[in-house]
Amino acid sequence: MVNVMGILLAPGPVPVLKEISEAQCKEMITHRSGDFTKLYGDIVTRLKAYFGAEEAYVITGSGALGLETLILNLCEKNDRVLCLPNGEFGDHQATTVKVYADATVERLEDGKGWNLERAKPHIDASRAKVLAMVYNETSMGVRNDIKEICHYAKSKGMLTIIDGISAWPGTEFNMEEYSVDAFVTGSQKGIAAPPGMALVGLSKEAVGIFTKRTFIPSYYCDLRRHKKRYEQDQQTPNTPAVTLFWALQKAFDVMDGKGGLPAAVKRHKEASLHVQARLKTMGFPLTAEAGFESNTVTGFVCKDAEGAKGIKAKLASDYQIKIVGARGKFKDNGLRIAHMGNFEMKDLDACLDGIEKIIRG
Ligand SMILES: Cc1ncc(COP(=O)(O)O)c(C=O)c1O
Repeated sequence: MVNVMGILLAPGPVPVLKEISEAQCKEMITHRSGDFTKLYGDIVTRLKAYFGAEEAYVITGSGALGLETLILNLCEKNDRVLCLPNGEFGDHQATTVKVYADATVERLEDGKGWNLERAKPHIDASRAKVLAMVYNETSMGVRNDIKEICHYAKSKGMLTIIDGISAWPGTEFNMEEYSVDAFVTGSQKGIAAPPGMALVGLSKEAVGIFTKRTFIPSYYCDLRRHKKRYEQDQQTPNTPAVTLFWALQKAFDVMDGKGGLPAAVKRHKEASLHVQARLKTMGFPLTAEAGFESNTVTGFVCKDAEGAKGIKAKLASDYQIKIVGARGKFKDNGLRIAHMGNFEMKDLDACLDGIEKIIRG
């Protein structure tokens, strides 16, 4: 890809390949047509297989709309929901849960990761009906151990809702294997399509829950409407962002053409290990606790706020490379490099070489 604006290494929106971008430039079709039925039918069929989901839908809107959709369809006012944040996006998830249900929030310090040992006492004590957490806490570059935690939560009869917005498809995942009932990712993250679509997956149990509800506190996001319309003619209940759906289908083609999900996970993991190793060699501590490093974004701590500001500014001005600051505890002295989507290793190395030159003066 030709990056006329330089190299974008932010954790979403990520650069969009020309072929994915150009997939949008077709003559418009109506969403009440056989052509749209074919398009959406293909997207949903593939999404179900990728996620290991009973049902999947694409909602026009950002990732947070998809997450809110899952929460409002699956959690009722008096349902106790255990939220386990460890960063900004986990906090947002807990705030969303509070709108619709009875949230119990147990938080880990920024940078620390959730594993079963840490989550188990809260699961045992909460007597919650639902567990809600983030797979990949983008703000800290932390990957939570959701597989073990969700297995345990399910063994306790809980429903599990996972924000996988910045995790998929760069991190190992399958709803069935991970005991996840509801999952969401965003089109602007690892699948590397343009922003504007939330991709949601639901287990059989989750489908059983929302289909039995008599009241859902949203019209647009009522999954009963999405299900009904999909079953009728593989269409969406309202006008979707048709052009983005073309791009998403092409993004799936690109991923499949590069070896599918296993290859995507491998590529992201290898990039993450490479970035981590080079940053450590340069003397930067990572924002993530050891053992919880994200596959898709790496945060690192500079010696002070001025150092972080200088690296970010010089990368942009001298190398046309855009990285972003860390958040929360590391918002002043932390930076993040994303290795998410259809990135190229040479771009990551250009960024790391640039950082090395900047710190050496
Ligand atoms: C883990 C996580 N959750 C939620 C969001 C919010 O997604 P969106 O901005 O697409 O609504 C983000 C965005 O960066 C994220 O990384």
